[in-house]
Amino acid sequence: MWGLFPVSLAAVSAYHTPVLIDQIAGLARGSRRIVDCTVGGGGHAERLLGEAVELLAIDRDPEALEAAQDRLGVERAKWLNLGFADPRVLAAVARFNPDFVLMDLGVSGHQLDEDHRGFTFRPGAPLDMRMNPGADVSAADVLGKSGEAELARIFRTFGDERRSRRLAATIVRRRQRSELTTSDDLVNAIRAALGPRTGPSDFARLFQAVRIAVNDELRALEMALPAFLKSLVCGGVIAVVSYHSGEDRTVKQLFREWASECVCPTGLPICSCRGKALGKVEPKKPIYPSEQEVAVNPRARSAKLRVFRKADAS
Ligand SMILES: C[S@@+](CC[C@H](N)C(=O)[O-])C[C@H]1O[C@@H](n2cnc3c(N)ncnc32)[C@H](O)[C@@H]1O
Repeated sequence: MWGLFPVSLAAVSAYHTPVLIDQIAGLARGSRRIVDCTVGGGGHAERLLGEAVELLAIDRDPEALEAAQDRLGVERAKWLNLGFADPRVLAAVARFNPDFVLMDLGVSGHQLDEDHRGFTFRPGAPLDMRMNPGADVSAADVLGKSGEAELARIFRTFGDERRSRRLAATIVRRRQRSELTTSDDLVNAIRAALGPRTGPSDFARLFQAVRIAVNDELRALEMALPAFLKSLVCGGVIAVVSYHSGEDRTVKQLFREWASECVCPTGLPICSCRGKALGKVEPKKPIYPSEQEVAVNPRARSAKLRVFRKADAS
């Protein structure tokens, strides 16, 4: 049924084209207090802002917040330029009592397109990748200072790389000669370690792995989701769009656990946990963009939307 939504061409923007926008607007219909945890260029937010909707808009990237403010008007939302797992955000969301929480994870088209932000493997880009350019740790720091085992873990866990140890060893050897500072340095290390047949899809996957480490993305998700569930009103919805298998696994596992009636360790004779589900995964299966959407916006191809509806008060 989801694939039948026509693609909203009106939402296509030079900053970022929002993914699954009609499906997300459908899920949020009737919501009055919406948190957009990853407002980016404000594409989803613009669509979700109807009359009488209050919006709390969050992004750790100041450039994104500025773009969203220009698009929506500063007065139409409350704004927080922080990571969504920051304790100040968790407290603000708790006070806000949302009935709809949206997380559209990863990076925006704008962040990828701006070479100076260093998310790209195009030649000559700095190894930066900080979503918040004021953050302490850049990609060059992660690649320059992490131990070999930690680098291997990053490429294996976040990049699904079988030869992660070989790649980590190559990076460590190369950085003893000279620091890795540009995209070319990482591309050349990947080629040297994994062979000349590596290409753009490998670079994209392994650059993404470094980005996830630089921004500590999975930990932010694991910390924020349970707090947002607590803050959500009964019957409210959390919708998460992920673009990476690790992100999706985290969301899927948490939602599954929340939807279980019993989370006691197996083998306990008597249930001693909360003994009831906190809500429902709805729909049960993830929602994917249609072929038509992917044709218009190829960056949507890896998107998966999962939705959790908090139980009504009992
Ligand atoms: C895919 S874009 C969102 C695009 C947005 N939905 C739109 O319609 O333009 C993801 C955004 O989330 C932000 N982001 C990612 N992780 C974040 C986090 N932990 N806290 C706050 N913002 C985050 C990024 O800076 C980026 O601007």
